[in-house]
Amino acid sequence: MQLDNEKLRSYYSDPQEDLSLDDVDLERLPRHVSIIMDGNGRWATARGLDRSRGHVAGVDALREAVTTSVRLGLDAFSVYAFSTENWRRPQREVDLLMHLFATTLVKELPLFHQENVRLRFLGDLDALPERTRVVFQRGLDETRDHTGMTFALAVNYGSRAEMTRAARDLARDVLEGTISVDDIDERAVSERLYTAGLPDPDLLIRTSGELRLSNYLLWQLAYTEFYVTDTLWPDFGKWDYLRAILAYQGRSRRFGGVTRQ
Ligand code: FPP
Repeated sequence: MQLDNEKLRSYYSDPQEDLSLDDVDLERLPRHVSIIMDGNGRWATARGLDRSRGHVAGVDALREAVTTSVRLGLDAFSVYAFSTENWRRPQREVDLLMHLFATTLVKELPLFHQENVRLRFLGDLDALPERTRVVFQRGLDETRDHTGMTFALAVNYGSRAEMTRAARDLARDVLEGTISVDDIDERAVSERLYTAGLPDPDLLIRTSGELRLSNYLLWQLAYTEFYVTDTLWPDFGKWDYLRAILAYQGRSRRFGGVTRQ
């Protein structure tokens, strides 16, 4: 995406003691950043609040992260909002999350229009409550023609389920004769994943200090740089985001090769 330098400067015009936008190389920004938003429950519990309050606070952090991603001129920004394993949470919490996804999406549609953001979902939406599905479809329809950043929300997403589904699709295509076994290459697999058409993430951020992937984008993260912070998701703001970008720029990405001198 085109980077609007002036907008980015004014967005980051209140330098932190240890950090300023000048530290960042604007020529080497990632194209796609993905975040495992973790720690809402702990954030709430630490304040003596119900876990649901953590998720509500998490929405504010997500809004800021979307805005930051747009200001940074990313092509794609994706977040892990609900995994195929999250159905095991107490029914009350699952209900709240589904409700929150729907209400937030409706509320944030003006932001997507204003910022020219195109919405996309990763995961099996068929299992979601009717109202959530209807609202998601509305979000897709209303942002379909936007040409700016793609914001991909992983809901009822699991990487193993995604790859199993791709394998089934490939088998079906072979049986129906639309492709041959020898046509099955990495590209053919990628095209059958929920992320088809999106660049692989350059940077994966995980909040709240956990060091695992939790069944998230296992295929797509093959060469992604990881950044883990102890900050809990509701506390993750634009400066934490910039810190992650700086760390990313400090890495040397070799994609299995050697660094060119
Ligand atoms: C992880 O914290 C968070 C989630 C499973 C849900 C993410 C949801 C949001 C940020 C809210 C809204 C999102 C959208 C898309 C509107 P956790 O509950 O696992 O925290 P814990 O590990 O401290 O228990």
